[in-house]
Amino acid sequence: MSESRTPEYPVDPIFLNRWSPRAFTGEAIPEQTLLSILEAARWSPSAYNLQPWRFIWARAGTPAWGPLLATLNEFNQSWARNASALLVVLSAKTGLPPGATEPQPNGWHAFDTGAAWLSAALQATSLGWHAHAMAGFDKDLARSSLGVPDDFAVDAVVAIGRLSADKSALPEALRARDNPTPRLPLAAIAAEGRFGFKS
Ligand SMILES: Cc1cc2nc3c(=O)[nH]c(=O)nc-3n(C[C@H](O)[C@H](O)[C@H](O)COP(=O)(O)O)c2cc1C
Repeated sequence: MSESRTPEYPVDPIFLNRWSPRAFTGEAIPEQTLLSILEAARWSPSAYNLQPWRFIWARAGTPAWGPLLATLNEFNQSWARNASALLVVLSAKTGLPPGATEPQPNGWHAFDTGAAWLSAALQATSLGWHAHAMAGFDKDLARSSLGVPDDFAVDAVVAIGRLSADKSALPEALRARDNPTPRLPLAAIAAEGRFGFKS
C-alpha cells in the first residue's frame, strides 16, 4: 500500500486500496463483472428507499461506447479512452415517498447517488478493477445523446478499467501524478459536538 495511504485508525483495507488511476490496460471487461459492480450500487441506502440512482453503461468496442466517450472533455478523453467501460451516473430528482400520490422533489437524490457510485467503486476494487469518477464532461450533450429526461440529473461519468503498470499511454504531464493521494487529517473533517475543525 502507498505511503500516502496510512490510516490514523484501523479501517478495512478496501477503503485505502480504492483510488482513481488514469493508466488503464484497455482490456475487455466481462459483462458479468460490470453487472456485479452495478449490483453493488443497487444495494445502497437511500432516503425513503427511493433508489434515485440510474446508470447508463457502455463497454469499450461496443456501439454504445462512442457516444459516452464523446461526452468527456478533451483531458478526460486523453486517458479514459483506455478504460474498459464507462458509466453515466444519473439521479431521479423526484420520487414517490410513502403516502404521496404525486412525485415529490427528492432533496437527497445526489447524496444517495453518491453513496451508490462509491458502492460500485468499492465492488470494482474488490474484483481487481478501478473506477474513476469524472465531472469533466458535457452534461447537455450526455442528456441529448443518451435521451435523459429533464427530471433526472446527470451527475458524473465513471471510467472503469484495470490498472496498467505501463504509464506510457498517458499524456506526459499525467504520468508522475498517477498515484494514490493522501487525505486531510481526521480532526480536520470530524469534530465532536459542534462545528470546529482543526486546519
Ligand atoms: C465527482 C468527482 C468528479 C471528478 N472529476 C474528475 C475529472 O473530471 N477528471 C479526473 O481526472 N478526475 C476526476 N475525479 C477524481 C478525483 O480527482 C479523485 O477522486 C481525487 O483526487 C481523490 O483521489 P482518489 O479517488 O484516487 O482517492 C473526480 C472525482 C469525483 C468524485
